[in-house]
Amino acid sequence: MTTVLLGVSGGIAAYKAAEIVRALQKRDYDVRVVMTSNAAQFVSPLTFAALSHHEALVDEFDCPGDPIPHITLGQGCDLFLIAPATANVVAKLAAGIADDLLTSTALACTAPVMVAPAMNVHMYEKAAVQENLATLRRRGITVLDAASGYQACGDTGPGRLPEPEQIAAVVEEHFHRQDALPSWTGKKVVITAGPTVEPIDAVRFVSNYSSGKMGYALAAEAARRGADVALVSGPVTLKAPEGVQLVPVKTAREMLAACEEAFVAADVFIASAAVADFRPESPSDSKIKKGSSQEGQLSYVRLVENPDILAAMGAKKRPGQRVVGFAAETDNVVGYGQQKLASKHADMIVANQVGENKGFGADDNQAFLITENNVEELPLMAKQQLASVILDRIEQF
Ligand code: CTP
Repeated sequence: MTTVLLGVSGGIAAYKAAEIVRALQKRDYDVRVVMTSNAAQFVSPLTFAALSHHEALVDEFDCPGDPIPHITLGQGCDLFLIAPATANVVAKLAAGIADDLLTSTALACTAPVMVAPAMNVHMYEKAAVQENLATLRRRGITVLDAASGYQACGDTGPGRLPEPEQIAAVVEEHFHRQDALPSWTGKKVVITAGPTVEPIDAVRFVSNYSSGKMGYALAAEAARRGADVALVSGPVTLKAPEGVQLVPVKTAREMLAACEEAFVAADVFIASAAVADFRPESPSDSKIKKGSSQEGQLSYVRLVENPDILAAMGAKKRPGQRVVGFAAETDNVVGYGQQKLASKHADMIVANQVGENKGFGADDNQAFLITENNVEELPLMAKQQLASVILDRIEQF
């Protein structure tokens, strides 16, 4: 049975949360409730326990038999719906604060999170609240628009919790969309990610700022759809997504060797790695002296070009195999992307602008999807969301 965890925080709209439980149950979801202590001032946990047939939890330290309820709750649900979400809870979610059971659960949650803000109109319209909601949206959290109208405090305007039936309908649509995802079971996907690191000597290297986030998001999404995923990754600080086979590499040549082996059986190859274009020709086993007056010293390190992994896979693509690359550009994004599509024999290039505060290391990305006959401009979105759109398009080739 699909489980929806309902997080209730402390605003007057908490009374409507009881109706949300009923509306979700009507759609055959198993509903569990976690509340803030402020919410428990508005509606008794007993009300939610009686409706949901599960204890409604409030206090992290008052959950007999479960020493880590935030983990149990956060990992035991298919969706975490926080409704109503007060301005305070929205701010805590945006800042990653986990100082009670509801917010700790949100941080530990591995399921999608949906937030229905509800508060006074003047609070809702404050820049701090709107920026926090935008932060949540950027991170892939679904934020419902507040309804507009007469408020309990006497003001009129946006900030009301949408009707329970409407919220339940959004939840239902979320699950329908998930069920409609085409299955990638049986598909083999190879993804390159992160930077490559090219040694100069025993203590120095040439590399770049790639965080690996895009490639790891793609790997997680492909695995979620049931694919058999090999993630050929340069050194990054990220943990390999669950169910993904991590192939750790350091240099471009190691990455190429790993890809050549995996590409033979691959259905889809996605090159998201920021491969160092050049490497020192003869890395030294000992530390090179920094003197600059003669060859063999640091200023004389000679660079040679690295193999182009995407171009190598594109060149040996068999019918039915799909090859997708990225293009990180500071200018002429679409033009250079189209050139790379042709020169590397890719089926699609995901082109995006890089530069100050854009691209490398960010959690979101604004990309163009370039194919032979089309250029699709996507809005700014979280990398997880972009990963999902990229896989949807590959599906359509
Ligand atoms: N790529 C690759 N191997 C390389 C260089 C790039 O596989 N040695 C792949 C990247 O993973 C990406 C695409 O090629 O999918 C484009 O990478 P990018 O760095 O934007 O372009 P380059 O080909 O390196 O060209 P330039 O630096 O001149 O823009």
